[in-house]
Amino acid sequence: MTNTDNPIGIFDSGIGGLTVLKEVRRILPAEDLIYLGDTARVPYGIRSPETVLRYSFECTEFLMRQGIKLLVIACNTVSATSLSALQAELPIPVVGVIEPGARAAVNSTKCKRIGIIGTEATIKSSAYLKAITSLDHDMEVFGLACPLFVPLVEEGWTEGAIARMIGEKYLGPMRDKGTDTLVLGCTHYPLLKGMIQEVMGNIALIDSAVETAKTVAEVLVGNGILRRGERPAAEMFHVTDSPEKFVAVGERFLQRKIERIERVKL
Ligand code: DGL
Repeated sequence: MTNTDNPIGIFDSGIGGLTVLKEVRRILPAEDLIYLGDTARVPYGIRSPETVLRYSFECTEFLMRQGIKLLVIACNTVSATSLSALQAELPIPVVGVIEPGARAAVNSTKCKRIGIIGTEATIKSSAYLKAITSLDHDMEVFGLACPLFVPLVEEGWTEGAIARMIGEKYLGPMRDKGTDTLVLGCTHYPLLKGMIQEVMGNIALIDSAVETAKTVAEVLVGNGILRRGERPAAEMFHVTDSPEKFVAVGERFLQRKIERIERVKL
């Protein structure tokens, strides 16, 4: 029997999944959260689906040992390549980021033309294309990999001339596709929202993190495992490389202290 007091596990290849944790915390303040960032092996987005799948199982096994009641795959690359395998194996609900983002995009577009930006692995998998066209097969979907966006965010260069120049180079061709909705299909991209909006002009940006957090809430309620009660919620962070950089960038992003963090071996 799942205990409603058990934590939610959130996993990402690195720091980007904090965009999802932040939203989950915002709408589910009573839930205990355990975060795992596989910082020793980030980025996943340039690796083969087989390697991403293997890493995903290793991360998941670690979180299952912590007694989680629900798993959130915060990483788009993992969601795109490994979600169904993880759902088939695990005895708990598993929520990925692709389906919630796809649903929000379909609801947003008026002209039925949607752009997707993400890592090479996510775009190659066509996972967003499949999720969007399964909701409405009249949709036209344009995928674009923006591999330099991840290191840009990791470096903290989310605005200014360099970010803008790289954004212009990648997104210029996307602007010509006549889309009215663009899915930020990578954990890191919500941190570049300002620059992306500036480059793309008048277009709706879909942040999968916000949509995923809503889905997590629905799944908790649907399974009767939403945590109520007065005890203040706890948060624990785990990383597979040294925590210093994660803490520095993570605290800046979350705008609060990361109190409990430890380096783990998977
Ligand atoms: N977390 C990955 C994603 O959302 C981006 C970083 C990586 O390539 O590992 O696709």
